[in-house]
Amino acid sequence: MCGIVGAVGLNNPTEYVQKGLKMLDYRGYDSAGLAYFDNGIKIIKDVGSVEHLMSIVPSNIISNLMIGHTRWATHGAPDIRNTHPHISFNKHICLVHNGVIENYKEIKDFLFEEGYRFYGETDSEVVANLLEYYYLQNKSITESVKKVMSMIVGSYAIVGFTDDNKESLFVFKNASPLVIGIGDGFNLVASDASPLVKYTNRFIELDDFDQAIIEHHDINVFDKDGNRVKRKIITKDIELISHDLKGYPHYMLKEIEEIVPIIHRITSTYYQDNKFLFDKQLIKDLNESDHIIFVACGTSYHASLVGGRYFENYGKSASRFIASEWAFHPTFPGQKPFVILISQSGETADLIHCLDTIKKHNLNNLIITNTGGSTLDRNCRYSLLLHAGIEVSVASTKAYVAQVTLLALLAASLQNDASVIDDLKHCVTVVEDIQKNYKPMIQKVASELKDKTNIFYLGRSYDYFLSLEASLKLKEISYIHSEAIPGGELKHGPIALIEEGLPVIVFITDPSTAPSMRGNIEEVKSRGAKVYVISTAELAQQGDTIIVKDYAPYLSSVAISTIAFYLAYYVSLAKGLNVDKPRNLAKSVTVE
Ligand code: AGP
Repeated sequence: MCGIVGAVGLNNPTEYVQKGLKMLDYRGYDSAGLAYFDNGIKIIKDVGSVEHLMSIVPSNIISNLMIGHTRWATHGAPDIRNTHPHISFNKHICLVHNGVIENYKEIKDFLFEEGYRFYGETDSEVVANLLEYYYLQNKSITESVKKVMSMIVGSYAIVGFTDDNKESLFVFKNASPLVIGIGDGFNLVASDASPLVKYTNRFIELDDFDQAIIEHHDINVFDKDGNRVKRKIITKDIELISHDLKGYPHYMLKEIEEIVPIIHRITSTYYQDNKFLFDKQLIKDLNESDHIIFVACGTSYHASLVGGRYFENYGKSASRFIASEWAFHPTFPGQKPFVILISQSGETADLIHCLDTIKKHNLNNLIITNTGGSTLDRNCRYSLLLHAGIEVSVASTKAYVAQVTLLALLAASLQNDASVIDDLKHCVTVVEDIQKNYKPMIQKVASELKDKTNIFYLGRSYDYFLSLEASLKLKEISYIHSEAIPGGELKHGPIALIEEGLPVIVFITDPSTAPSMRGNIEEVKSRGAKVYVISTAELAQQGDTIIVKDYAPYLSSVAISTIAFYLAYYVSLAKGLNVDKPRNLAKSVTVE
């Protein structure tokens, strides 16, 4: 995880580095630091947020070269010793790193034998020293980087500089994101393009095992064999990567309220003039496969539960796996399986691990992601983009709705079933209605829940999948323990936990499961639970808490997840917590 930035040739790199780190702190915010060149290597770093770093950085730094880092701790506690940038033992190399070096211990032992000593516990400091070890021998940074890349195993995007060259940055990467921004008389790097767009609309995305030497007017890229190579210059849609809060107090709220245009955008991207627009070969491959394997994590996994059911509805057998489970114990149901990976960020390490297995077994595959140019986007056979715009809040909201919407379209396209289009259009009116009219109601429920320590969500079928997501959202940003339980499972154990006053939030939106859910409500009420029912008009009963317009039940994750998102948001807000950056979490989980 972690966000990294670098600048060379820019007049005021401090502003770029600080603002850039702020934009990247969704990737981690345990500690932050920067380094620059002023008669040698200078470092300013501390535990705490990027805002804190900004408060301790002087405004008068004169340097055309600077690197910065915001950290999500993996190796070593979030203390000052482990805060980036790291400087090598003899103070010749300074660098920042995003990723994990798996074999850092053996390299550390080797360097220790060679007389190196370490001030912290990070794998990153070990890389700085290994680089210095070779740099002192061969005086060539590109040769040293090449040697280091041949030795280190793991994921890394590294940006750094040496103490004898204030004109250039070195960067190298494998399986962690890094984008170069091409400026006029300056060049920039960052973990994603968002910090760069204020300065340029021309980018280079490095391939794995590439390294680059970046100077004021020049960028030289080398492949892993050290050959100079040209990588494509690309442009990006600035609106989709903008971090502008647009007047909202939090990204989460802004992102929830972007759901309607996103549903429209996805629908019009993948369906036009009465035709689905998916790659014909992709649809053929999906149709010819005899089993769909979904792998994903967290919210994306919850989307895969819904998506798996969609594919089953069109006659495909499907399995859904949590990526970190499947990665270590992969199973391959069917004779001709097709793997669908789902990831908002496209950088989730557990999924990248799955992709290794997928490639090893030569399985056909598709990534559904929000992040064009991400590791998974570039390395999967097929890729479908969500076009949801950058999601900054750690708690995923709009991306979830986008994933489910896209999965509904993709599954329907297998049999060219356009009914999904009308169903989605109708969902949009439900979401609009919720956004316009239901917030006060949801806020009232939030105020009743904010001091609770346990909350249950109940649902069946699609409403159970939605409950899982609702529960994850609540626990992520309110720190309230919460569980989602399929209605039918209640009596097989969890009902033992029901006690006087325990809040139970129940979704009833599906006629086929509504009677059983009403039975569940009686079971928990009679044991003292305080029940909040969210139902559709057709299925509503007196006393239900929130009643929404009817819609096609298979789309509950599109139509009414907005209620669950608002609820989590308002509970977090009522508790005075950091909505967008909940403790211990990061937006891109680039470590396993
Ligand atoms: C969502 O609210 C979470 N922050 C988290 O579960 C997330 O969905 C998960 O880490 C997967 O991320 P990805 O979609 O970027 O792969």
